[in-house]
Amino acid sequence: MVTELKNHSIALHYLSILRDERTGSSNFRKATIILTHALVLEACRQLELSLESIHTPLEKIEAQKIKGKLVFVPILRAGLGMLDAALDILPNAAVGYIGLERDEQTAIAHCYYSKMPNLSGVQRVFLLDPMLATGGSASQSIVKLKESGVENVSMVSIVAAPEGIQHIEGLHPDVDIFTASIDRELDVNRYILPGLGDFGDRLFGTD
Ligand code: PRP
Ligand code: URA
Repeated sequence: MVTELKNHSIALHYLSILRDERTGSSNFRKATIILTHALVLEACRQLELSLESIHTPLEKIEAQKIKGKLVFVPILRAGLGMLDAALDILPNAAVGYIGLERDEQTAIAHCYYSKMPNLSGVQRVFLLDPMLATGGSASQSIVKLKESGVENVSMVSIVAAPEGIQHIEGLHPDVDIFTASIDRELDVNRYILPGLGDFGDRLFGTD
């Protein structure tokens, strides 16, 4: 299942800020945070809840609380720009890291780092990566999580290319994708069009 935050004025506004080549790192980070808040709220819509008796100042009620453990896994580097915003929504979530970098010629990502919390019994893992281009980085990460026994994975990306979505849907039909925008296509260098350029470089001021 793919969910796109379309027809949402705030999402469209901050996407435009990300896409604008004149936007510097500071406003780029702020827009990333706001879009991540919106996406994580949407991605959490169906989380399982459990009942807990609490007392309001007036009476006792059966309150609903998120059930079990949740994990955020940012894909380094660019996913780091989404992590704090995701933790704003669910501060008790555990955090794992996967470091992947695409080869500039082949666009095939290689893994240079991985560190996971205990993944047994987690309700859901949210992969955080702002760009879903070919889908290679996301797919490698999903395979790694599934090899660790994780059954429920959601992919949270700010911009997604149709090619990347098809890649994930083909190999991992059980993984739900949440994105602020499904863009048109990839260019010859496997960059997303119209896209926003290299997310990591713009976030961290590298090139
Ligand atoms: C970018 C982006 C994704 C990946 C998406 O990372 O952050 O992880 O490309 O492309 P794909 O869907 O074709 O795999 P990059 O390799 O540029 O590394 P960085 O985050 O360190 O800049
Ligand atoms: N990674 C990015 O940062 N941007 C793209 O357009 C594709 C992959």
